[in-house]
Amino acid sequence: MTGEYGVLAAYYDKLYAWKDYAAEAGRLIEIVGGDGRGTLLDVACGTGRHLEHLRERFDVEGLDLSSEQLAIARQRIPGVPLHEADMRHFSLGRTFDVVTCLFSSIGYAKTLREMQDAIECMRAHVKPGGALAIEPWFTPDAWQSRTVHAVFVDEPELKIARVNTSFAVGRASILDLHYLIGTPDGTEHLLERHEMGLYTTAEMQAALRAPGWTVAYDEEGLSGRGLYVARRGPSRRSVASTARRRPLAGSRQSEGPKRPGGTR
Ligand SMILES: C[S@@+](CC[C@H](N)C(=O)[O-])C[C@H]1O[C@@H](n2cnc3c(N)ncnc32)[C@H](O)[C@@H]1O
Repeated sequence: MTGEYGVLAAYYDKLYAWKDYAAEAGRLIEIVGGDGRGTLLDVACGTGRHLEHLRERFDVEGLDLSSEQLAIARQRIPGVPLHEADMRHFSLGRTFDVVTCLFSSIGYAKTLREMQDAIECMRAHVKPGGALAIEPWFTPDAWQSRTVHAVFVDEPELKIARVNTSFAVGRASILDLHYLIGTPDGTEHLLERHEMGLYTTAEMQAALRAPGWTVAYDEEGLSGRGLYVARRGPSRRSVASTARRRPLAGSRQSEGPKRPGGTR
């Protein structure tokens, strides 16, 4: 399916070349812990850059709405099962030790109801004793409307300027991303609208909380965006084997994200 990450999927990795996916994957492994080799599902996995590193430690699978993003992920991590599905309503018919939804992708669940549906779906895919880790988008308080942002790619045969002014309409952040893309074949202008839901910490925590689950918030997270980690209590059968597990590394309980900004 072609959505916000359709035509421009080809340039996604160039635009986010600055992002240290290896370090983020390492930090995630530290936070979610676990003994031995487990299973992991990355929801909204994009071009598979976290999975590329997480597969060193987990048997991984990915899921994304964009067939274009998944096509790039398939080239990057051949053999890894990748599902084209919507995080707001999917069912893979199995559970994982860890389920992740990173780089603020949860914001693409645009309304409170959609965010709750997405979290419910993800939670249903976590094994007893497992964890769900979600890197949030901005809270309504932290979102700064009417701020201007730009990202540039400067390679010999590819120049990209992506410029946007951030706005909000009600509880939705609006990013009209204007791209000027220059290649030896010519220069074109593309416009992409990204609409992402802004949720308070209380709303996120309420959506993550459920009987038998504990929810913690790590202020720093993987990249400064914060990280919610919801842990599913072990089934009665596996209590003894998981009792010696490490507590959540580096986890600090707090009010939630306080990042300034208005950019992706
Ligand atoms: C900011 S990118 C993050 C990709 C990847 N996690 C990363 O860290 O590079 C957001 C991703 O969410 C995906 N996405 C948007 N809406 C979605 C939905 N409803 N269900 C599943 N994936 C979705 C997009 O296709 C895109 O790949």
